[in-house]
Amino acid sequence: MGKTHVLDHPLIQHKLTFIRDKNTGAKEFRELVEEVAMLMAYEVTRDFPLEKIEIETPVQTAEAHIIAGRKVGLVPILRAGLGMVNGMLNLIPAAKVGHIGLYRDPETLKPVEYYCKLPPDTTERDLIVLDPMLATGGSAVAAINFLKKRGARSIKLVCLLAAPEGIKAVEEAHPDIDIFTGSIDSYLNDHGYIVPGLGDAGDRLFGTK
Ligand code: PRP
Ligand code: URA
Repeated sequence: MGKTHVLDHPLIQHKLTFIRDKNTGAKEFRELVEEVAMLMAYEVTRDFPLEKIEIETPVQTAEAHIIAGRKVGLVPILRAGLGMVNGMLNLIPAAKVGHIGLYRDPETLKPVEYYCKLPPDTTERDLIVLDPMLATGGSAVAAINFLKKRGARSIKLVCLLAAPEGIKAVEEAHPDIDIFTGSIDSYLNDHGYIVPGLGDAGDRLFGTK
């Protein structure tokens, strides 16, 4: 059974406050999203197993630990998930990046797929799906469906903010998935926006509004 983890590290919470602030401009917004994604990478990889190896320090032979043969795939949901990729890659540089293009139809709030390009060995990788916003959960559920249909065996979902409605939708559709979020906000408004939220993540990242 998957769990929802609220990442309450003070650095994450501090930076999220400025991400939420409507007076934060696009440049600072992008930098903060990248920084928070990097901090989240630290938490999301906490369960990666280690193996012992022998190395030579300048002083003597020593047993030390490295991550045990993990192959990671980052899967940002376009567009806004792109804002989290570089932060994650800073800490997991060997990860491959697959992209899933989904947009939310503004009338129905249902996700519409327009792009998909995944690494060829997706089934062997621990996948980390990235999307700053888990609102109705439609986009995340669709992306995870998509990955499972292609044989993915290990998937985690990472978002900056989640609405209770989105968490419920993912838990119901994909009870095996762990969700990592910086906050569980109050509710969704009539336009499907997270309240208090941060507004439209894609528009704030790319300056399209
Ligand atoms: C936003 C956001 C998520 C989705 C979340 O994308 O980045 O992908 O909405 O909403 P949901 O949980 O209700 O599906 P949007 O459709 O605005 O596209 P964009 O990232 O291209 O701006
Ligand atoms: N997508 C966003 O970008 N913001 C929300 O609040 C909900 C969905």
